[in-house]
Amino acid sequence: MLKLIIDTDSGVDDAQALMLALAHPATEVAAVTAVGGNVPLENVVPNIFEVLHVMGAEDLPVFPGAREPLLPGERVHATEFHGSDGLGDYGERRARVRPQKEPAAVALARLARERPGELTLVALGPLTNLALALRLEPELPRLLAGLVVMGGAHTARGNTVNLAAEFNFYYDPEAAGIVLEAFPRTRLLTWETTLAHPISWEEHEQLGDLGTPRSRFYRAITAHTARVLAEKGFPGLLIPDPLAMTAALEPALVQASEAHRGYVETCGSHSRGQLVIDYGRSGRAANVEVITALDREGVVELFRQALTG
Ligand code: RIB
Ligand code: CA
Repeated sequence: MLKLIIDTDSGVDDAQALMLALAHPATEVAAVTAVGGNVPLENVVPNIFEVLHVMGAEDLPVFPGAREPLLPGERVHATEFHGSDGLGDYGERRARVRPQKEPAAVALARLARERPGELTLVALGPLTNLALALRLEPELPRLLAGLVVMGGAHTARGNTVNLAAEFNFYYDPEAAGIVLEAFPRTRLLTWETTLAHPISWEEHEQLGDLGTPRSRFYRAITAHTARVLAEKGFPGLLIPDPLAMTAALEPALVQASEAHRGYVETCGSHSRGQLVIDYGRSGRAANVEVITALDREGVVELFRQALTG
């Protein structure tokens, strides 16, 4: 049984990833931690509870975390792609929003100490909570069973105003750098891999037309993102966080990955937030496994199973 903690800045693709995990038959989600990113933390927490409600998992503990990145500065949310509320402006809110009082970083450190070697962390947003947890519990990399992160652009093809930077790393570069330096092997699902593995528009329509409440919820929360991506000419729905979640839920669906030493640039007017890969030149041990290929049809099937339940 895979046991997960999911850290998220939910967002639409985060919500989809959470649905995959909650529906997966061989997975226990032990806790969810919230971080500001796609939208402010005040939106992230109710978005998480709305997904838990739809999935029948409202009793799961949700720990609110960092509103802001480690360093002050201008913040750019991603409401263009996620809607003003971060859930595609979903209008049928039914969940009771009851977050824990314990802060996310404290909860992450505590749960890892209580369940040494059991819990895998899947981080789907800026890494602020995990960086803070590392400062509270430096043994975290040895206490966690594994770490999967959606973040970075391994060939510097980013998606933010800093052209080489991906959103999660750009939003809190210091946190991302702390995490990559602390963990012996972070499994990274990057932006380029996201671009290479879209859900086709036809598959997307089918997933939203399965005749179940989960399918209807998927269609409702994804409509805004799908419209924006289609208008921008993308050939299908981009699913960064569900791809990262797939790597945790079904490692056999990962078809190719590369081990490298990775660093995060924190300076540079064009490069702050960039994932810098050494391609073997630094002589330092690899600390990231960049996932470069997945079985895309297998990912779609995971969605189909999760939304049919
Ligand atoms: O760059 C994509 C990442 O940023 C995804 O996790 C998305 O949800 C946003 O957080
Ligand atoms: Ca996210």
